[in-house]
Amino acid sequence: MTRTRCDQITSFLAMTILERAEELQRAGKKVIHLEIGQPDFVSPQCVLDAAAAALRDGKTGYTHSMGILPLREAICEYYEREYGITTVTPDRVMVTNGTSPAMLTLFMAVCGKGDKVLMSNPCYACYANFAVICGAEPVYVQTSPEDGFQFRPSDVKRLLTPDTRVLMLNSPSNPAGTVMPADDMREICEMCAENGTMIFSDEIYHGLVYEGSANSALEFLDSACLCDGFSKRYAMTGLRLGWIVVPSALIPTLQRLQQNFHVCANSITQWAGIAALKDGAEDVKRMHDEYNRRRKVLVPRLNELGLKVAGNPVGAFYAIADARHLGADSLALAYDILDTVGVGVTPGIDFGSNAEGFLRFSYANSLENIEEGMERLAQYIESRK
Ligand SMILES: Cc1ncc(COP(=O)(O)O)c(C=O)c1O
Repeated sequence: MTRTRCDQITSFLAMTILERAEELQRAGKKVIHLEIGQPDFVSPQCVLDAAAAALRDGKTGYTHSMGILPLREAICEYYEREYGITTVTPDRVMVTNGTSPAMLTLFMAVCGKGDKVLMSNPCYACYANFAVICGAEPVYVQTSPEDGFQFRPSDVKRLLTPDTRVLMLNSPSNPAGTVMPADDMREICEMCAENGTMIFSDEIYHGLVYEGSANSALEFLDSACLCDGFSKRYAMTGLRLGWIVVPSALIPTLQRLQQNFHVCANSITQWAGIAALKDGAEDVKRMHDEYNRRRKVLVPRLNELGLKVAGNPVGAFYAIADARHLGADSLALAYDILDTVGVGVTPGIDFGSNAEGFLRFSYANSLENIEEGMERLAQYIESRK
């Protein structure tokens, strides 16, 4: 019997595969991890130094619930530097313990029973659960591998109703690593604004774009709500630091939620976040260039193996590839690949029914491991002939 909304929250299959992979490793098997979306780099030295200094200086108390002012100011400078956006002021920014709590708090502030939340099928596995825990209903915009699983404005338009409270954007995207064209994003932002639908844009993979550039939803719509964080481009996943940018009118609600449910973000990592934003550019470039080198090996290799990559993966550190000829059930296939040749991959079904039969590959792993992973995958495919 369903007693709370928690009963409707699904597992995150990437973690389920990772846990199985770790079990195999404990039993002595060498596993190549291409399932997990976690940078394989240590955080930049400036981040480590700033965190150590903050600890040494005893900056261990609660901070302002919105986050320390110098960090919120550094975030505003980031928008000006990266996108030429000058309208983000510290009173519109709230610092959180990662992008995930940012999204949860934002969904809680905005969504309730009867609300519909548009998102692409496939999309980041947790989006639907953020909507569900607030009593809102996820509504999926169908996408195709040819479009890199990014939705088209015309498909969004068809689904907009008076109940559509939110549309979720994610460019560069997880799972496909694709970037939404600027004109599509503009058109979607405009039609949503006209419909009274709020834009939530998860921009966590900004800074990791290898061809062209990604747009922030704020470039097209000043009322767009952004969720972002330090996990990916600054390789700070475990430090748990993110932020929200919203219209000022939403801040009192967000702040009340933050005060009650989180109090504030971690004080030490907030100081480290300032260092990342101010002094981390060279490290971001170093990691970016290395991901790009790996991408240029992984993507053609997948295609050569007959695993056709969806769209043009020019961002994040993922490619999602069609493996339907190897099995219709991507979870069973991912387990079989892991058990047979020791390569961890994420089943497409984790991200939505349109990605069933696909596998997501993360290139947040060394070139050497990616090459070995592809070698093992080739053996697996050969053994299935
Ligand atoms: C699209 C997307 N959004 C958000 C997150 C979570 O980020 P954080 O570590 O900041 O909570 C992830 C993590 O994989 C992600 O892929």
